[in-house]
Amino acid sequence: MADFESFRKNWIRPFFFYGNNRLSLIGGALTSASALVLIGFWVIDVFGHGGSNNPYIGIIVDFALPGLFVLGLLMIAVGLLFRQRSLKAAGEIPTVFPSIDMRDPVFRHGIEFVAIATAINFVIVGTAAYRGVAYMDTPSFCGQACHVMDPEFQAYHMSSHRAVPCTDCHIAPGVGGFVHAKMNGTKQLANVLLHNWPTPIMAEQKIPTADKTCLNCHNPERNIGDRIHISNTFGDDEKNSLTHTVAVLHVGGGNVLGQMSGIHGAHSAHIEYIATDSGAQTIPYVAYTNPDGSITEYLSSDAKGTPAGNRRTMDCIDCHNRAAHSFETAEQALDRFMVAGAPNASLPFVHKQGMALLKTEYRTQQDAEAGITKGLEQFYSSQYPQVYASQRAQVEAAAKALTSIYDHNIFPAMKVTWGTHPNNLGHNDYPGCFRCHDGSHTSKSGKTINNDCTTCHNLAATDEASPKAMTELGLP
Ligand code: HEC
Ligand code: HEC
Ligand code: HEC
Ligand code: HEC
Ligand code: HEC
Repeated sequence: MADFESFRKNWIRPFFFYGNNRLSLIGGALTSASALVLIGFWVIDVFGHGGSNNPYIGIIVDFALPGLFVLGLLMIAVGLLFRQRSLKAAGEIPTVFPSIDMRDPVFRHGIEFVAIATAINFVIVGTAAYRGVAYMDTPSFCGQACHVMDPEFQAYHMSSHRAVPCTDCHIAPGVGGFVHAKMNGTKQLANVLLHNWPTPIMAEQKIPTADKTCLNCHNPERNIGDRIHISNTFGDDEKNSLTHTVAVLHVGGGNVLGQMSGIHGAHSAHIEYIATDSGAQTIPYVAYTNPDGSITEYLSSDAKGTPAGNRRTMDCIDCHNRAAHSFETAEQALDRFMVAGAPNASLPFVHKQGMALLKTEYRTQQDAEAGITKGLEQFYSSQYPQVYASQRAQVEAAAKALTSIYDHNIFPAMKVTWGTHPNNLGHNDYPGCFRCHDGSHTSKSGKTINNDCTTCHNLAATDEASPKAMTELGLP
């Protein structure tokens, strides 16, 4: 009791006495207001998900609000010190500090001031924090404010998923996903603030498993059946000769009897694998659970025993790894643009020249635009002056199209270039399906993961100028 009495005399009373100055009072109001807003966030965090899932809300909850809280404390301390000093200089320090009494008008005014200022601060801090949170939930925040994700943001806007918020795929629902994402988001923010983000940013950690993301919207048993794939390829000859490949992909799915078949059906079984690189491009080990529950293990021919590494259960993302941000190869992009008419196939060698200009290394996107435009102009004005004179507009349109291809796929500042982010959906440009289906993954009993071209697709035509299959389908 005596201890408390002396604590009150020697600490609490002086604290309130010296604390009665503008700076300390405002500091007190700031501290209490930010504490209230913080508590509000924590309550939302613990009790529900009316709030937001965005990992970057860490900026507000982990940095800004605690920052204001500490700033308020500092203001109190500085105010105390100043008042003590000035009173000391004036020789006005009392021998006995006045007791704390609500009837004392000076003390009461101090308390009233803090209460009113807290209320005002609460509204200001709370509104700012709330608006910040709302803003951080928009894809434009994830992709733009945080410019390091510009490549993904650009690609996202051209994907089927451009209306799906980033958080729907990148953050698992529930408290676990939220905490994990928040820690990750805070780490990424620190990287951005300290200017040491990785270039390029790679998907080192898989996004949450498909059952927590993709399957919220997609039905894995939907019957997709066969899909006709027609690809158009322009040649490197003077005429930019166009050829077509027609593949009928057996995507499959479930039928009315619930039987699963095709590409989707085959992997709805339980398949685990071990990759030896962080991007899962090299997969020496695959374990397939047969319908009777027995497990068939496949090892690639160059693996010596089961490799070390995490086992992962295969799901949608192992094939559709670029569902929301697919970067094209230069070949794919140029063919797609040329089909649309720019670069125009009537310009001699435009495919060959265009490809060479796209694959040149430039320091920035601005350099690329200048380099591509100049390169094409030089080529046509020196090699084909007549074409240059009569088809000037098409040469310019070609330069514009090439620049656009470049700008959507190459980000020099982030070191994202051709092939940085492999697409696992096929096997021609990247290992893709052939990470497992390469014919060299064999089980102890000599079974090999199927490598027969026709299990995945029929090739009705391969690089033909006018395939019969297309004529029959009435396609030009
Ligand atoms: C439809 C689901 C989906 C949406 C929506 C989505 N992503 Fe992704 N994201 C993925 C998948 C899948 C990966 C690759 C994961 C892997 O390979 O393990 C990925 C990877 C990434 C990566 C790692 C680098 C890379 O390119 O592989 C970044 C950065 C990224 N996404 C940012 C974003 C941003 C920013 C948005 C919103 C503008 C967004 N994502 C929206 C599914 C999505
Ligand atoms: C919030 C809902 C939503 C989520 C989550 C979602 N998708 Fe989609 N996805 C859609 C819609 C809607 C379409 C159809 C878009 C269209 O046809 O324009 C689509 C289209 C697709 C397509 C076909 C078009 C294409 O781009 O090839 C694939 C493949 C696909 N999604 C895979 C995925 C995968 C893999 C995931 C998980 C990483 C996923 N989706 C997560 C809503 C979603
Ligand atoms: C083994 C690889 C693989 C896995 C695993 C896989 N897919 Fe696919 N999926 C494909 C291929 C290949 C296509 C055809 C792509 C094309 O047409 O270009 C496809 C097509 C699709 C389409 C487009 C269908 C359309 O109407 O055009 C959707 C949607 C889709 N998949 C969703 C999913 C979802 C959801 C999962 C997880 C349950 C999944 N896929 C798992 C390989 C896979
Ligand atoms: C992680 C390894 C892995 C990857 C990657 C993979 N698969 Fe498979 N796939 C398997 C295993 C294991 C089986 C079952 C063994 C078998 O039937 O050969 C299988 C079976 C299949 C089957 C059925 C084969 C049959 O005999 O009926 C098809 C079709 C198929 N996969 C297509 C694809 C396509 C298309 C891709 C790429 C988009 C792909 N797979 C990627 C592991 C993989
Ligand atoms: C494990 C399944 C699988 C096997 C086995 C397979 N492919 Fe493919 N192949 C695919 C998929 C999936 C695509 C489509 C990629 C895409 O969507 O762009 C494809 C695309 C192609 C294309 C390009 C089609 C186009 O649209 O340009 C060619 C050519 C091709 N395959 C040839 C072959 C040949 C030849 C074999 C046999 C040696 C083979 N493939 C074996 C899955 C397979």
